[in-house]
Amino acid sequence: MSDDKTKPGTDASTMWGGRFSGGPDAVMEAINASIDFDKRLYRQDIAASQAHARMLAAQGIIADEDSNAIIAGLDAVKAEIEAGEFAFSRALEDIHMNVEARLAELIGEPAGRLHTGRSRNDQVATDFKLWVRDALDALDSDMQGLQAALIDVAEAHADAIMPGFTHLQSAQPVTLGHHLLAYTEMLGRDRGRARDCRERLNESPLGAAALAGTSFSLDRHMTADELGFSGPAANSMDAVADRDFALEFLSFASILSVHLSRLAEEYVIWCSQQFAYVRLGDAFSTGSSIMPQKRNPDAAELVRAKAGRVIGALNGLMIVMKGLPMTYGKDMQEDKEPVFEVHDTLKLSLAAMTGMLRDSTFQRDRMAADAGRGFATATDLADWLVRVLGMPFRQAHHVTGALVKIAEDQNCDLADLALSDMQAVESGITEDIYSVLSVESALAGRTSFGGAAPGNVAEAAVEARKRFLDGA
Ligand code: ARG
Repeated sequence: MSDDKTKPGTDASTMWGGRFSGGPDAVMEAINASIDFDKRLYRQDIAASQAHARMLAAQGIIADEDSNAIIAGLDAVKAEIEAGEFAFSRALEDIHMNVEARLAELIGEPAGRLHTGRSRNDQVATDFKLWVRDALDALDSDMQGLQAALIDVAEAHADAIMPGFTHLQSAQPVTLGHHLLAYTEMLGRDRGRARDCRERLNESPLGAAALAGTSFSLDRHMTADELGFSGPAANSMDAVADRDFALEFLSFASILSVHLSRLAEEYVIWCSQQFAYVRLGDAFSTGSSIMPQKRNPDAAELVRAKAGRVIGALNGLMIVMKGLPMTYGKDMQEDKEPVFEVHDTLKLSLAAMTGMLRDSTFQRDRMAADAGRGFATATDLADWLVRVLGMPFRQAHHVTGALVKIAEDQNCDLADLALSDMQAVESGITEDIYSVLSVESALAGRTSFGGAAPGNVAEAAVEARKRFLDGA
């Protein structure tokens, strides 16, 4: 530890320790240091410091030469970090002080002028917002990549008949394309939530200083502009106390992880021998060490499970933030790890789901055979009674139920019932009813907007491509 407390040095207390005579206990340092994880903020920290230095000079608060030296020195620090040559120090607590201390080593006295009118409180809020903003942009392109895979597969299987389920019971026939386009929509909303979060977070905390603003004539608009913010945050206390953006990021992330988990669960089901709707290639299958016949969808199971981590992270940070009085509290240092971890988890989950989709061979015959099971055209039968005989739907439902029971007793499909058996239940039924009892005809009839008819689905895939992929 440096003895000269008037100069920036090699431990944190030289940054703030003018009134301290001893250094921190090892345990104090261990609990206090965030450098092991917040070094991920280095790029944002340096960009924000450079903007601050430029503004200080433009406002005549520091000399141009000092500002230039600071900016060039920070570029050198960045180059060292990126070359893996930077020695991060726990004694210097966090990324802010690690960078500033190294800057002081490189350029000397002017480095000490950088922190004018600024605090680590507005600094960390600024850096972290910039990081979350970048993360949202990166995840947007990963989500779009998954949408592209979903749309490609949906287009190829726009007409692949499969059972649609409610309660995981065969309900009505749909197509695989329709099923996958449902996920494309969910991801579209996830991307919308990410955009909303980005938009709302995009106010600059920089210049709020510790909490109350500063007596220096900072130009907060200038730094906000340079960093791509829409403007400075209006209230200096809110600026340093706000972690809504992290909570919103984790909320968006939680809903996304739920969607990924649902799709992953479909894969687990579809890969089972009982369903066998999909076969994953070797690239996305794993074997068992004891059962040679096994091909396990481990990636899908892991994506399904990872939602637990993501939702846990949201819960965790909600609990950290609740009840914190204005403004900054060190509690808030606990905001970064969950956000970083969730970002990494989602990136991997999105890549895994995209990879699995592209590595899938769908067993169209199996799905089509299943689609006819479980009286999946019963609704079409009821609709026929309404359309042709003018029967109220409730009554048609009842009549259809009686016909299903007969089919069940005879152990046959609705399409195999004798006309006379049907007429015994409802005398108005004619031969024409068979035209809606096959799965193909039932499906072809689902032409309402957003419906499952293969023609609709093919068009919907084209539309989805336009909405989500083109020119985005
Ligand atoms: N490492 C700290 C964090 O992440 C930076 C802000 C520290 N501010 C302070 N007043 N101690 O929250």
